[in-house]
Amino acid sequence: MTPIDFTGLPRRNKAYAGANGSKISVIYKGRQYMLKFPPVPTRNQNMSYSNSCFSEYLGCRIYEMIGVPVQETLLGTFRVKNTEKIVVACGDFTEPGVVLQDFASLKNQIIDSERNGYGTELSDILQTFEEQSAVDPSELSTRFWDMFIVDALIGNWDRHNGNWGFLYNTVTDEVRLAPVYDCGSCLYPQADEAIMEKVLSSQEERDFRVFEIQTSAITVNNKKLRYFDFISSLQSEGCNLALKRIVSRIDMSRIEVLLEETPFLSNLQREFYLVMLRERKTRILDFSLRALNSRDGNL
Ligand SMILES: Nc1ncnc2c1ncn2[C@@H]1O[C@H](COP(=O)(O)OP(=O)(O)OP(=O)(O)O)[C@@H](O)[C@H]1O
Ligand SMILES: [Mg+2]
Repeated sequence: MTPIDFTGLPRRNKAYAGANGSKISVIYKGRQYMLKFPPVPTRNQNMSYSNSCFSEYLGCRIYEMIGVPVQETLLGTFRVKNTEKIVVACGDFTEPGVVLQDFASLKNQIIDSERNGYGTELSDILQTFEEQSAVDPSELSTRFWDMFIVDALIGNWDRHNGNWGFLYNTVTDEVRLAPVYDCGSCLYPQADEAIMEKVLSSQEERDFRVFEIQTSAITVNNKKLRYFDFISSLQSEGCNLALKRIVSRIDMSRIEVLLEETPFLSNLQREFYLVMLRERKTRILDFSLRALNSRDGNL
């Protein structure tokens, strides 16, 4: 992919919410994009900007390779005064009369519930799928669990109810699933070079990042789920079915090519992303799928 210079493109007045950094709307090749700028990291004080633009780009491209509908992403630069920032452009999937409604707002429609739209307790989310009437519940459940498995692969800790949703047609009243968006919190966006080196040279550090941190945004009894613990427990049939659907569609050699072709990355970053993705796939997803197949007698 050739990096694009997004400086000086026509701007639009559309504004985007979200807590992770500045965003502007531009027109590139006749299409509207949300440009996301790298935010200042909240946790790692040693970094001036987080790597979340790479996380967004790589996470979305991995979704695309797996075959889950996702926003288009492009990497490029944007000059602010004398500094050049690396930005990610996200194709805006709304259009006149078609607006984004997040899952939190769908959850708010459940009238006799005391649940808050942004609450991410798993049982409440699953119950909302059955109680809402805007979208086929099985389609909702399939998307939710597919995202859960892909997010486990890419280590996304921020798939809260505002980070997935629907496209609502204000004329026809139709509602359909929106493409996946906001993968900016996957692939360890606050890991700096020193952390990457340390992680690459220590299995213990890798284990910590595969099994312990990078929990899901989904909670059970108010506690964030650990991807490995939940998926390998095989306790949710929706999750098990998604595991079967998704794992066979992950092609690590294509992901390796993606990393090679991604501009701006250092060799250290490329290796770090590849090693972490390989380990997350093998140790969380492949392990759990083997356990599922042996439970079901499909050896
Ligand atoms: N491709 C897109 N097309 C149209 N609207 C979008 C797109 N991607 C995101 N949005 C809207 O812009 C908002 C901000 O984008 P995004 O979620 O990527 O930002 P963020 O700062 O990373 O958010 P968060 O607070 O969840 O970390 C989203 O909540 C959504 O409403
Ligand atoms: Mg968001």
